[in-house]
Amino acid sequence: MTLQLTTAPGDLARAAGLLRAGRLVAFPTETVYGLGADATDPVAVASIYAAKGRPGFNPLIAHVAGLEAARREGCFGSAAQRLAEAFWPGPLTLVVPVEASGSVCELARAGLASIALRVPSHPVALALLQAAARPVAAPSANRSGHVSPTTAQHVLDDLAGRLDAVVDGGDTPVGVESTVVACLEEQVHLLRPGSITVEDLERVLGAPLSRTGVGDADAPLSPGRLAAHYAPNAFVRLNAERVLPGEALLAFGPLALPGAETAAAQVNLSPAGDLTQAAAMLYRALRLLDATGARMIAVAPIPEAGLGAAINDRLRRAAVR
Ligand code: TXA
Ligand code: MG
Repeated sequence: MTLQLTTAPGDLARAAGLLRAGRLVAFPTETVYGLGADATDPVAVASIYAAKGRPGFNPLIAHVAGLEAARREGCFGSAAQRLAEAFWPGPLTLVVPVEASGSVCELARAGLASIALRVPSHPVALALLQAAARPVAAPSANRSGHVSPTTAQHVLDDLAGRLDAVVDGGDTPVGVESTVVACLEEQVHLLRPGSITVEDLERVLGAPLSRTGVGDADAPLSPGRLAAHYAPNAFVRLNAERVLPGEALLAFGPLALPGAETAAAQVNLSPAGDLTQAAAMLYRALRLLDATGARMIAVAPIPEAGLGAAINDRLRRAAVR
């Protein structure tokens, strides 16, 4: 049985109590829904991997309520400190050397000497973290290999019966996972693009970011990356210049692709061509098109600028078979 909770204070207190008791609770963040467990409890963390059906023990993000709590778990050099001050709370995950006296268990870190930390800005996530009063490990609340959830219903579709509760906070505003950045050496590395863009990060760092690791599933800095992590059931064809017979269409912007009028189904990520709106729609749109039973989804070209880099990164992964 999966308990469905609201964001009322009594329900959040109940959710925090479940987390403290080692149970699994899904909750909204500004990016996607997370499948949360007490990050200090290896048995609770193991149940995350079991519920998701993850192929291995990928390192998880430890979510905390503020920078002070984060500093108890990780070592913040000057770059990490500056990024945290600029973007927390928010959709940025910082990978830093683990603090020897930290409380996050080794299993949550997959045995690494580094730790991924994030302070989410979603008020429900923050309230829950404050009430739980400990770091909460939370990958996206989907079965391994499935599309990340942006509503409580998506979580239930994938994981009902495999978790103890889900807090329904409505649609997640950003819609793609956090930007992940490694601050382990002098050079800062981008491990996963997200809504905090390379341009945003470089502005704060005052130096260029290294992108080694992005799009490379074997990169040593990002041990948990699977190429086909975001896959829908349908095949995905990127940068389509026309829609072929039988294909569904994932459109973007005001211009219709040739053949769009006979597409098996179509969703436009943003008729106005707005990349922020497109990111928020991305997983929802993939689910909608997948649900039509279409075998192939043609994806209109999406510009690589700003949030487009994160959207295209997720779509390239969805296209890998
Ligand atoms: O927006 C998000 O980040 C969502 C919400 C729930 O916060 N969470 C999420 O978690 O996307 P997950 O587990 O699906 O992705 C975590 C990413 C993975 O790519 C993982 O490899 C990387 O963070 N990661 C975690 N710890 C790491 C470490 N010590 N070194 C390098 N990469 C790490
Ligand atoms: Mg995920």
